[in-house]
Amino acid sequence: MNPASYRLAASCADYRRLARQRLPRFLFDYIDGGANDEQTLRANCEDLQRLNLRQRVLRDVDNLDTRCELLGQAASMPLALAPLGMAGLYARRGEVQAARAAAAVGVPFSLSTVGICSLAEVHAASAQKCWFQLYMLRDRDAVQGLLQQARRNGCDTLLFTVDLPVAGIRRRDIRNGMLDASWRGRLAKATQLAQRPGWLLNVAIRGKPHHFGNLSDRVADPSDLRAFKAWLDAQFDPRVSWDDIRWLRAQWSGRLVLKGIMEPDDALRALDCGVDAIVVSNHGGRQLDGVASTIRQLPAVAAALGGQLPILLDGGIRSGVDVLRARALGAQGVLIGRPWAWALAAGGEAAVVRLLTSLQAELATAMALCGVNRLEQIDAGLLERRD
Ligand code: FNR
Repeated sequence: MNPASYRLAASCADYRRLARQRLPRFLFDYIDGGANDEQTLRANCEDLQRLNLRQRVLRDVDNLDTRCELLGQAASMPLALAPLGMAGLYARRGEVQAARAAAAVGVPFSLSTVGICSLAEVHAASAQKCWFQLYMLRDRDAVQGLLQQARRNGCDTLLFTVDLPVAGIRRRDIRNGMLDASWRGRLAKATQLAQRPGWLLNVAIRGKPHHFGNLSDRVADPSDLRAFKAWLDAQFDPRVSWDDIRWLRAQWSGRLVLKGIMEPDDALRALDCGVDAIVVSNHGGRQLDGVASTIRQLPAVAAALGGQLPILLDGGIRSGVDVLRARALGAQGVLIGRPWAWALAAGGEAAVVRLLTSLQAELATAMALCGVNRLEQIDAGLLERRD
């Protein structure tokens, strides 16, 4: 592959390689890394790849269709872009580019609480509604403000992330100085670089650095990253509990989805709180290192829920074949995180379109070779465990 061009990229690993070449080290590592020894990060991918498929033949697969409804939204395949913090740093106005790519391919885009671009900016630029991801903040007025922004900008699906009462320990970020004062220096440097022609990073609006669009009204000067970071660090709320889910349910009449459920009894509790769906997720191996992979937990969670709630899964999805594997074990659809970040860094909107299009082609091809035409025909019967 021409190392400089995403136009010949054929796999997530190709986009990752390109992202590594283009991004400053601290930012590549921030995207790529996981918690502690990164065991869970690796397990997410490896456990998926361990699931063997069954090749079925002579089944007339001429009418193949990957379209579906994902949390009430029509989608070209059962896949959405996961919320990623600071994605606007990976390419110029990065969340806008990714949201446009998602709309072009017909899959949902999720915007993180700590996105660089605001909900209003993403909404104005994209042809479809986005999903909004919420972290609980100590300042409940700020949470109310975020919910209002979400409503105002046409969001009807809220992903509430429950696996981050405290931040996981990411050693790559520590080694890169991202957690100490030098991080501010590095980000400021990245912002300076953004002014150079041809450089991808750009977090500036009208020449001034501008960070975390959804929360910029919370600090006096949104360009003062030091003040913003201090405010945010103190905001993550470790007291968050099931009572907050009931509170949120009362505040939010749209679709409420809990992201970060790994245990069957937590899934049942979520059902009890009146949520509309769950995402089986371990935050891409960035929180509790040593927790099982998501694909390993999925069958037990699906069995406990018995079809009473739609289940999405994320963590380690790197191909259309992985989408099929997750569906076979009970997920209605999947989210991808790092792959879209890598593609965005590799070539902006066009590269994300290319990535999504090839994931869809891989899913369709895998379905054909497993002998099915419709997503509803995908079940555990298509899989054979290797061990
Ligand atoms: C994340 N993730 C995440 N989740 C969330 O709810 N809010 C957020 O702001 C972020 N930020 C974030 C940044 C980066 C760089 C990564 C890699 C991940 C987790 C994300 O939504 C998703 O759960 C995982 O990325 C899925 O795993 P894969 O696809 O990256 O293996």
